[in-house]
Amino acid sequence: MLLASGRLIRSQKSCTASSASLSEPSIRYATARRCLRLASNRSVSHLFPFIGHILSSHFLIGVCHGNDTQDPVVVTGILWRMFVKLLRIDSSPFGKTAISRCLTEEFVHKWLAENHGGAVVTRDLTSTAIPVVDAAWVSANYSPSGSRTHQQNEILKLSAELIAELTDADEYVIGLPMHNFGPPSIFKLWVDQIVTPSTLLERPLAGRRATFIIAAGRSYTTGSPDSNKNYLAPWLRTVFGSLGVSDMQFVIADGTKKVHSGDLDLVLGLAC
Ligand SMILES: Cc1cc2nc3c(=O)[nH]c(=O)nc-3n(C[C@H](O)[C@H](O)[C@H](O)COP(=O)(O)O)c2cc1C
Repeated sequence: MLLASGRLIRSQKSCTASSASLSEPSIRYATARRCLRLASNRSVSHLFPFIGHILSSHFLIGVCHGNDTQDPVVVTGILWRMFVKLLRIDSSPFGKTAISRCLTEEFVHKWLAENHGGAVVTRDLTSTAIPVVDAAWVSANYSPSGSRTHQQNEILKLSAELIAELTDADEYVIGLPMHNFGPPSIFKLWVDQIVTPSTLLERPLAGRRATFIIAAGRSYTTGSPDSNKNYLAPWLRTVFGSLGVSDMQFVIADGTKKVHSGDLDLVLGLAC
């Protein structure tokens, strides 16, 4: 796992980025390049000026690179790109000004530039009514599917819908703010709906690629006081790994509290 840190500034309207430089350039250059490869055919200086700075930057970019496994399904070429589907998931309560949302947005732009004709489905968890898992939900889930009552099927309807949304996509970009060293509660509710006895058994997300973009107020860079407190990335790796995802990468946009304190007056963003 590689961690870098940086500063971010929230803008009421948009997020772009300014100059940055990477310490440990040999590692982070390669990592950032891989992270950014989806945008490789786009003029970075045109729409995403910060991209050009990332590879020689000194701050802001936190790349926590996951398993360096090969893509599970190595399919290249025009046909694949035409039919590939990206599922974007956002979970910040702060709407368009959320840093994590700015970054998932950037990711989508780059992904579309790379995958002409590809489809993007967006799931905003903050506008999805997700109930807390209760005894009736658990009971329904552990009942054999063929013997569930109508009521039990109704209870599991949202879960089935959310799982189908995942299995229907080829790739995910998932934006999360770090809340209390973990995911925001709405994200946990969503995870509780998609992790079921059958998804744990069948691992239906095998072959998918996931990019997690985490915005966090503190710095989790190596050497910082909180460097060992990023529990969110390992948790995500465990959850999605248990569903079959093996190709995961993590982008940590940390140090955002300087945005809120007003210490930084530039608008910075990071995308992958
Ligand atoms: C309820 C709450 C809990 C937070 N907990 C943490 C935390 O544990 N660690 C941290 O580094 N930042 C924490 N933050 C700060 C956010 O992670 C930070 O503001 C981040 O930029 C939010 O991402 P967003 O702009 O996409 O919403 C917390 C913020 C809120 C609102």
